[in-house]
Amino acid sequence: MQNFRNYKMVEPEKSKKKLHNNNSTNGKPEGKTMKSPLGDKIIIDTVGARSGTCVFHNFLYALLFLFGALYFGYLCDKPTFQHYSAQYPYLGHLENLFVVIEDYSPFHQFMQSDEEFFESMKRTSPEQEENLDAPPPFRIFTKDELSRYDGSEGSPGLYLAFLGKVFDVSKGKDYYGPGGGYAFFSAKDGSRAFVTGQFDEAGLTDDLTGLATSDYLGLKEWEEFYGKDYTPVGVLQGRYYNQQGEPTQEWIQVQEKIAIAIKDKDKKDVEKQTFPPCNMEWSSEKGTRFWCTAKSGGVKRNWVGVPRRLFYPGREERCACIRTTGPPSIDPASKENRGDLDNAHLKEYEGCAQDSFECWKAK
Ligand code: HEM
Repeated sequence: MQNFRNYKMVEPEKSKKKLHNNNSTNGKPEGKTMKSPLGDKIIIDTVGARSGTCVFHNFLYALLFLFGALYFGYLCDKPTFQHYSAQYPYLGHLENLFVVIEDYSPFHQFMQSDEEFFESMKRTSPEQEENLDAPPPFRIFTKDELSRYDGSEGSPGLYLAFLGKVFDVSKGKDYYGPGGGYAFFSAKDGSRAFVTGQFDEAGLTDDLTGLATSDYLGLKEWEEFYGKDYTPVGVLQGRYYNQQGEPTQEWIQVQEKIAIAIKDKDKKDVEKQTFPPCNMEWSSEKGTRFWCTAKSGGVKRNWVGVPRRLFYPGREERCACIRTTGPPSIDPASKENRGDLDNAHLKEYEGCAQDSFECWKAK
C-alpha cells in the first residue's frame, strides 16, 4: 500500500494559497503537486534550509562530505585504506577514529563484511569459548627445543619436563620463571632432583639410577602433582619418550618401580599396624629408653604391648610394640594366646623383663 505519511493532504483552495505564499523564490511553488489516489491534491515539501549562500556552511558541508567519502572508502576497502594511512600520518589518525566509530557504533554488525561478521560470530560462539580453554596441541620436544622455554624475555614460554612429560608451568612463573626459587627446574627434565634435593647441574637430570624404592613414591607424588596442577603440552624426546612420542622401555621400568614402591608402602602400613613403633628417648646418662603406650608410633589401639627389636631382611632394625594376647597376626584362627610374641622377626632387648612395657639400651 502507498505510504502517505510524508504527504500533506490539503483542500484544493487552501493548497493554492499555500503554494503562492510559502517559501517561493520566484513566485512559483517549490513543492511538487500531485494527484492523490483519493482525489485530493498532495504537496510534497522539498524545501530545505537555505545555506548555499553561507561560506562557512559550505566549508562545513564540504568537510562532512570529505569525511563521509573517506569513511565510505575505509568501509569498502580497509586494506587499501590501511596501506595509505601507513604512508600519511593524518590518514592514520582518521583510521583510528573510524575504528572507534566502528567499535562503538550500534550498526557495527551491519557495517562488517560477511566474512568479518561470521568470523566474529565464530569467535564468540560457546564452542569457540570452550576451545580457548582447550589445552595447547600436543608436541614432541627435543632437549634443545625445551631448553628455550625458560620464561625469560623473548623465550617462547615457561615449560618443564617431569619423567619425560612436558608441562606448561607459566601460571607458576613466580616459582619457575627467571629469579624464581625453583627456576632451575624450568626448560629441562630434572626429575631426579625432585627426590634428592640436589639442585646443581649434576643433580638436575632425568637419570634415576640408584634411587631407593621409597624415592619412587616421591616421584609418583610429583607426577600426580604436575598432572593435576599444570597443563601437559607434549613429551620430551629422549630417555622416556621416543621420536614418535611413544613411551620407552625405561619409562615402563620407572612405572613398574613406582608400582613396587606403592606395594611396599602398603606392606609397611600393614606392618606398622601390626608392629607399631615404640616411643623413644635418649639421655647421655642412661642411654636410650624404648617404651610402649596405646598410641605409640602414631598407631591408636586397644592394647599397649611390650618393646621388641624388629628385624626384616635388608632393613635397619627398629623397636616395635608387640601384642602379648590373642592369636598371632599371621594365623588369626590359631588357639594360641601369646599375640605376636613368637614372631620370627623379633628379638628381646638385653636385660629387659619379657613383660615390661619399657626397655633401656645402654649408651
Ligand atoms: C627436595 C626438596 C624440594 C623440592 C624438590 C621442592 C620443590 C618445590 C616446587 C617444584 C615447588 C613449586 C610448586 C608449584 O608449582 O606450585 C615448591 C614450592 C614451595 N616449596 Fe619446595 N621443594 C623442596 C623443598 C622445600 C623445603 C625444604 C621447603 C621449606 C623449608 C620448601 C618450601 C616451599 C614453599 C614455601 C613453596 C611454595 C608453596 C606455595 O606457596 O604454594 N620446599 N617446592
